[in-house]
Amino acid sequence: MVILGIECTAHTLGIGIVNSEGKVLADSKAVYTPKEGGIHPREAAENHQKAAITVLQAAINEANITLDQLRGVAFSQGPGLPPALRVGAVIARSLAKSLNIPLLGINHCVAHIEQARFFCQAKIPLVIYLSGGNTQITTLAAHRYRIFGETLDIALGNMLDMFARAANLAHPGGPKVEQLAKQAENGYHPLPYTVKGMDLAFSGLLTAAKQLLKKGTALEDVCYSLQETAFSMIAEVTERALAHTQREEIILTGGVAANSRLKEMLQIVANEQSAHFASVPVKYAGDNGAMIAYNGLLLLNSGNKTSLNESGIQSKWRLDQVDIHWES
Ligand code: ATP
Ligand code: FE2
Repeated sequence: MVILGIECTAHTLGIGIVNSEGKVLADSKAVYTPKEGGIHPREAAENHQKAAITVLQAAINEANITLDQLRGVAFSQGPGLPPALRVGAVIARSLAKSLNIPLLGINHCVAHIEQARFFCQAKIPLVIYLSGGNTQITTLAAHRYRIFGETLDIALGNMLDMFARAANLAHPGGPKVEQLAKQAENGYHPLPYTVKGMDLAFSGLLTAAKQLLKKGTALEDVCYSLQETAFSMIAEVTERALAHTQREEIILTGGVAANSRLKEMLQIVANEQSAHFASVPVKYAGDNGAMIAYNGLLLLNSGNKTSLNESGIQSKWRLDQVDIHWES
């Protein structure tokens, strides 16, 4: 049995294929990069539309299958940018209809988490989900991902991207900030640290980091201080959530999970609490079609599918609104 998954919430059009064991047979993508500034939703959608056939063909070739072998078509139904979501949904509906196979509407956030849980071989972990649009500390309880802590303003990845833009670094900013932080020479400059209970806030930190840069502080040192502050905030909330939930495993997922310094800090938290820490493989940290395909497999195996009537995009679909049917 093979399932195809289409990721289309923001920058990335990803098409992945998994088999019945969840093994990734193909993971093909086209990433839209704005010429300047942030993402332009319509422009992104137009790019995805143009790239669709090429990306689909590449996935089919990579998996070495024919379309008639597919047993389900999954797509990112939300949350995300409506024009982009619509492109993915249209491709998925047409494929499912023409092949006469189930359509599977998937929540993008759940897909990041379930893919990480699969690769980390975790049971019921505390999940640290950090990306361009999300900063959530969550765990599964009674068939839902319950959110224990989250950002009160902007997401961690978004904050790194916005700082990078202010420093004239190309998008995405996270990897560049990480590289520059490694070259810091003068140590740590204090920056605002905002943790409120289990929640976090990053906009004050962003403003202060930009001011530090304007004052002439070396970019490398600002990047270092920014990372140390933001990641310490994540580490503190992780520690508190771990104590609260009594989980024995921590997993990290989302685009920011590619960051080595962050992983190092979470590993320390885990060690101190005798918990096990694992991160999604860097290759799958960012948006990818394989995670949608894998979540489609879980949904289908639990006896569920999405009817045409229910297949409208849900641009504001929250993680904790999704029923996790496949968790017995
Ligand atoms: P969401 O999952 O919330 O919809 P998204 O789909 O925009 O967000 P992802 O692809 O999951 O995003 O993550 C992209 C984010 O990850 C960007 O903000 C990017 O800067 C960040 N990122 C990527 N690599 C690194 C890194 N090495 N260090 C820190 N951040 C990183
Ligand atoms: Fe994402």
